[in-house]
Amino acid sequence: MSEAFNFDEEIDRRRVPALKPHPMVLGADGADLFPAGVADMDFKAPPPVLKALQTRLAHGVFGYETLPDGLIPALTGWVAARHGWRIDPGDILRAPNVLNSLAIAASLFTEPGDGIILQPPVFFDFYDVIAENGRRAIANPLILSNGRYAMDFEQLEALAADPRATMLFLCSPHNPVGRVWTRAELARLGAICRRHGVLVVSDEIHADLTFPGHTHTPFAALSEEDAMNSVTCLSPAKSFNIAACCGSFTVIADPEKRAAFQAENSRLTVNKNNAFASVAMEAAYRDGGPWLDAAVDYIRGNLALLRDRLAALPTVSLIEPEATFLVWLDFRALGLAPDALTAFLRGEAQWALTRGPAFGPQGEGFARLNIACTRARLAAALDSLERALAAENRR
Ligand SMILES: Cc1ncc(COP(=O)(O)O)c(C=O)c1O
Repeated sequence: MSEAFNFDEEIDRRRVPALKPHPMVLGADGADLFPAGVADMDFKAPPPVLKALQTRLAHGVFGYETLPDGLIPALTGWVAARHGWRIDPGDILRAPNVLNSLAIAASLFTEPGDGIILQPPVFFDFYDVIAENGRRAIANPLILSNGRYAMDFEQLEALAADPRATMLFLCSPHNPVGRVWTRAELARLGAICRRHGVLVVSDEIHADLTFPGHTHTPFAALSEEDAMNSVTCLSPAKSFNIAACCGSFTVIADPEKRAAFQAENSRLTVNKNNAFASVAMEAAYRDGGPWLDAAVDYIRGNLALLRDRLAALPTVSLIEPEATFLVWLDFRALGLAPDALTAFLRGEAQWALTRGPAFGPQGEGFARLNIACTRARLAAALDSLERALAAENRR
């Protein structure tokens, strides 16, 4: 199917103010580095999305708008078909982005000073949302065993029992370790949280990038009780590579919580619609399926290349992802402290990755690689890593 779409096309992202290759991210001296940090793809958006945007642009009038009639049905149809979750359209609130929903949920449904549980190594912005809203991050670190991460349920039960722990940020699938949590794992987490009055905020932004052989279970689809004890964030930003021109959705089954969230949206005037976001999202969810399947195929091809090449490098190993274009790499065998590892990767290998400790202290010795680039770009980067390791005699 990949033949129908050209993921090998090298597109100069520096022609727009893209973050991934920007000096703000790579550093002033980083122009020649392999830009593999920021979590988006180097591919053009799906053809139906481009076409819908062009049609909307040609209309020429961009005054105030409500949501297009087809947007919510496109979203609910997509989620039902892809993940078997039938969302009541009345439970859906439009949001500008996922982090905005996490911040509103934290400020509305927890008290200042409360603890929000997260499971590091985990997406660094979770820490910022918690700190910037005057809440405390409570870490329930994942357990790494035989190259696979799992949740520590015993410790979760103990942490959730603290009455000041009132919320949990669930990353599902999990950035950066690539786990697609099983139904059994999610059900166990859900039961613990319900037992101790901990509201689950489930960030499912990576759900559509689940690899064949794994099944993403929407948290709120587990049971009526879990639906009532959760807030779910959905977004087409990652899957269709439209982060800079889309919005997201917050799904809240509990009517009281949903009304409170809506009132907060209104207080903050988070209720304006961007015409391009609406059009891009509707086209993506309605017609983007074949492109997404091909993109996931291509990403898995890149992963196969990465896996093959790293197999010859005993000092670098990959944590096998079950979803996403983000790969958690284990450099601990190099025996380098965090700054030395970054210096080696930037200075010798010419790689700009996201540093492991950004995801919590458990990330020391690790780094996150984004493989949603052209295969040629990845192959060249692997050549350069191999040369750097050979030069340092660290292969
Ligand atoms: C798990 C996770 N949540 C949220 C975001 C950001 O989402 P948004 O741009 O909609 O705020 C990212 C982006 O990397 C992410 O990986």
